[in-house]
Amino acid sequence: MELNDCIAGRRSIRAYKDEPVSKEIVDKIIGAGAWAPSGMNTQPWRFVVIENRATINKLSQRVKEILLGMEWPDEIKERFTSEEDTIFYGTPLLVLVCVEKKEPSWRDVNLLDCGLAAENMFLAAYQEGLGSCFIGFGNFLNQDPNLLAEVGVPKDHELMAPLIFGYPVDIPEPKPREVKVLKWIR
Ligand SMILES: Cc1cc2nc3c(=O)[nH]c(=O)nc-3n(C[C@H](O)[C@H](O)[C@H](O)COP(=O)(O)O)c2cc1C
Repeated sequence: MELNDCIAGRRSIRAYKDEPVSKEIVDKIIGAGAWAPSGMNTQPWRFVVIENRATINKLSQRVKEILLGMEWPDEIKERFTSEEDTIFYGTPLLVLVCVEKKEPSWRDVNLLDCGLAAENMFLAAYQEGLGSCFIGFGNFLNQDPNLLAEVGVPKDHELMAPLIFGYPVDIPEPKPREVKVLKWIR
């Protein structure tokens, strides 16, 4: 696939077919993540791969519990009381991109590193016919280090990028983009 088509064709997908992703493709996705640039080439990302529905549901329920303890507009709150997996959207594949905990300035760099890894992973997934979505809500799981440790994120690590992948039920229309250049000095 042409890179430009891949960049413009990728969408955040929030409904997935009940179809597993092969190990070969998971390896490609994670491998693409590891090709991202990183501050001082630290390659800080560590991947936890979860394909087990019961585990994903448990994480989804926990995120909702945490979110319900916070202030939200009513229409958003509704999502958190649903029995459905309104956090990870019934995905067959959840990848938790995490890093070792660091002091704030390195943490910021590592967060960027993980974001770059995430986009690489999204594009690699799209090339394989998969949809994907960054689930920022999933980062609230950092409030439950015991549960994260249970699924393989060590307590001295922080979850930076919860990413979901799978075969899309349908492809949404693109959300229009605007290129906002503040200034261009020649
Ligand atoms: C850092 C970040 C956090 C996000 N968190 C969520 C989320 O928790 N739930 C969700 O459904 N989408 C989430 N998204 C997806 C965005 O809503 C989506 O990228 C945006 O609406 C643009 O749509 P597109 O990705 O289809 O182009 C997140 C995206 C990013 C980059």
